[in-house]
Amino acid sequence: MKFIIKHLPFAGIIAINSLAIAGRYRLESLKSYVFIISAIILLNLIIAILIKVKSYFNYGISGIMILGAFSVFLAPSLGQIYLKNVITALYVGLFSVALFPPLFKLDPFTYEFSKKNYPEAITKTDQFRKINIIINYIWAALFGICIILSKITYSDDGGIQVILSSIIPIVLLLAVGIPINRKLPAILMQTTQGEQMHFESIKDLFEAMPFGLNKGLAEGLDTIIQFHLTGEEPTDGYLTIKNLECTYTGGTHPEPKTTIRADSKLWLAISNNEVSGDQAYINKEYTVDGDMTILLKLGDLFAPSSEAEEDVKQKPKEIDFEYKTFEPGRIKNIVVFDGGPRNTKFSKTTFMVNHFCRGAKSAGAEIEYIKLKDMKINPCTGCYTCWTKTPGECIFKDDMSDLRLKFRKADLIIFSSPLYIFSVTGIMKNFLDRNLPNMKPYMLIENGETKHPHRYPEDRQQGFVVFSAAGFPEVDHNFDGLKGMFRCLHSHSEKSFLMGEFYMPGAELISQPVYGERRKKIELACSNAGEQVVKEGEINMEFMEAVSDVEITQKKFQEQADYFWESLDGKASYLKRSPKLEYTGDI
Ligand SMILES: Cc1cc2nc3c(=O)[nH]c(=O)nc-3n(C[C@H](O)[C@H](O)[C@H](O)COP(=O)(O)O)c2cc1C
Repeated sequence: MKFIIKHLPFAGIIAINSLAIAGRYRLESLKSYVFIISAIILLNLIIAILIKVKSYFNYGISGIMILGAFSVFLAPSLGQIYLKNVITALYVGLFSVALFPPLFKLDPFTYEFSKKNYPEAITKTDQFRKINIIINYIWAALFGICIILSKITYSDDGGIQVILSSIIPIVLLLAVGIPINRKLPAILMQTTQGEQMHFESIKDLFEAMPFGLNKGLAEGLDTIIQFHLTGEEPTDGYLTIKNLECTYTGGTHPEPKTTIRADSKLWLAISNNEVSGDQAYINKEYTVDGDMTILLKLGDLFAPSSEAEEDVKQKPKEIDFEYKTFEPGRIKNIVVFDGGPRNTKFSKTTFMVNHFCRGAKSAGAEIEYIKLKDMKINPCTGCYTCWTKTPGECIFKDDMSDLRLKFRKADLIIFSSPLYIFSVTGIMKNFLDRNLPNMKPYMLIENGETKHPHRYPEDRQQGFVVFSAAGFPEVDHNFDGLKGMFRCLHSHSEKSFLMGEFYMPGAELISQPVYGERRKKIELACSNAGEQVVKEGEINMEFMEAVSDVEITQKKFQEQADYFWESLDGKASYLKRSPKLEYTGDI
């Protein structure tokens, strides 16, 4: 019934057009047909309004036909124009239907059709409305072009002209309008400013998720996320994300990559951004098995595009330094000076160094690891006795006498220090100061830099590599002080040269299980660098860059860090609550 009511005006206008052509546009003989058909269309319109069948097409075309009928009876000269241009009048009706409703803040006509293809959680958003208005005006433009096309003279033959002027606009509508209607909504969904959707139920949520995938972030993603939700709305189902598409399937997948078990009410609240997913996870309110790293991406993957773009990832600047290289196989013995106060289970700096050493060892290097905090190292007094009364010898007879020798004899030195107040730790700085005896006091000018000569001409050139982990998620500025100091050491030394720098920002996160992927990337980059420096005498930039990539947005970092610190406030020590670093393989 509704179908007939909606489409009757189309049949009516085609009938009038056919009768007008058959009756050679003779007004008098056509009057009775126009009257009967228009009366039926008027009646149909009244019924549509009474039984609330909302169809802009019905309203628009019926309106044009009723106006046409009036002109036939009350203004014959206008009526004559109407009968000769029924198809054009049809497009005028369609053009009006597309143009006017949005101007009066009414729903665009496309809404009626597109609503059927999307779940309610999407159709009720402003973004969906905006997209429909855009498509609506594209249709208005197409109908406008059809008005012109229906008026062009294609042939002198009356019959052919009637056929062409009717068919050509339809071809345009089918060839351009239909594909636009199909493809454009999905494209616009990705590019127009989105908003947080609100889901009334889990069913609502899973129906909407496939449409909300942020394709920019889903590049290369191939995963299956299984949900087992209990409570008010028990649901078993899984999302498959592959080839930039997302689908939802009810039931249990035999081999999901990630399995999330949660209370349905909690998951709905997380999805509606009413509860922080990160906090709920840390509080163990839901569990995740398998690949946890997807948890980090899940929020952004289905976030409105505006939000995801706004919160930019911190990408470090490209490394701009010419690192020292040696001939392959030259580096045989490596001495690590670890200036951090933490042990292997908790120090993120040591984590990098351990993996670097693993790689170096596998390539045949000998490694001596010195934990400076366990050494007896007095702070330098600035007496310069090592430069005057007892050249090369310090007033203190502590562990530094031995360490200075080890420093001199190593092919490669590793400086390992967490970032403390934008520099090295006090332990490391204390150690570095106490190496002054290895230099002579005199001044040497080289490449525009004034430096002190190395005391022992028999010592060979050596390389050094710096490792440092920091709390903040930025490399730029944060590491400037530490980096500057080591680069000065390089430019002011006759003997020790920088071969590589590994700066890990946002380092405290890497022990969390959800950051397993980043941890593995760091592990691999460091051990590859260790192996390469021994085998090839150099270190690829890409290894250093891999460590510096924090892979998290500033906002997300802030959210997680703040929540973590809040949860500890006055309750427990950091290390007690912080997961231990997992090492795969021997170190
Ligand atoms: C005294 C102190 C000062 C710190 N200063 C900074 C800093 O300037 N910038 C930063 O990003 N993190 C800073 N942090 C955070 C540490 O760099 C971070 O916790 C890092 O992971 C420690 O490395 P580790 O795990 O190897 O000990 C500081 C931490 C402490 C205890």
